[in-house]
Amino acid sequence: MFDRIAGPYDLMNSVMTAGLHHRWRQRAADLARVGPGSRALDVATGTGDLAIELASRGAEVVGSDFSEGMLDVARGKAPQLHWEHGNALALSYEDDSFDAATVGFGARNFSDLARGLQEMARVVRPGGRVVVLEITTPQNPPLSTFFSLWFDRVVPVLGRLGGESEAYTYLPSSVKRFPAPRELAALLHGAGLRDVRWILTAGGIIALHSGTVA
Ligand SMILES: C[S@@+](CC[C@H](N)C(=O)[O-])C[C@H]1O[C@@H](n2cnc3c(N)ncnc32)[C@H](O)[C@@H]1O
Repeated sequence: MFDRIAGPYDLMNSVMTAGLHHRWRQRAADLARVGPGSRALDVATGTGDLAIELASRGAEVVGSDFSEGMLDVARGKAPQLHWEHGNALALSYEDDSFDAATVGFGARNFSDLARGLQEMARVVRPGGRVVVLEITTPQNPPLSTFFSLWFDRVVPVLGRLGGESEAYTYLPSSVKRFPAPRELAALLHGAGLRDVRWILTAGGIIALHSGTVA
């Protein structure tokens, strides 16, 4: 599915978020606290925007994904970065090999979320950072009403217009089954992270979780 949507993915992202996703990625990169001399891994990197944001801070960055179609788009955008085929649930990197690991809008697709988070924590050195940027379901009206209208009605129509009905019906269902912020924080803690915090933005639709490897 991700191979198929790789071409229009960036455009759909910008349309569906009114371009705000760039700002959210900047905030995720801030939380990763990387700079010149550090190494960062962006898992489920897709077309690579979060990896590119991390690299703009001066870090050496690896973007990893299991969709070659997505990686091809990322390679076209930033050939100087390292783009590697990989499964987020079984990363091929040694323990403690990065200063930070991030995932943007990818964690809700993991078939085993706890395992994916454990893998991110495993490859980051003690004291390094793990950051999860994800869509979350707002609990209170009026945002919850708008969210349900947008995701259940508008997004599938946009998907059909873009010729990818399945992917953009899957999107709302994947958001709905993703854990609420407090539960995700507990999973991050269980993965070995300390000082786990989260920030809600965009009226409570976007959650940025971060923690430090113990
Ligand atoms: C919605 S896209 C997000 C892409 C990008 N991170 C972004 O911020 O736009 C989800 C990505 O997760 C990847 N993905 C899902 N599960 C994965 C897994 N187990 N291992 C590697 N990549 C995975 C998909 O191939 C896809 O590129």
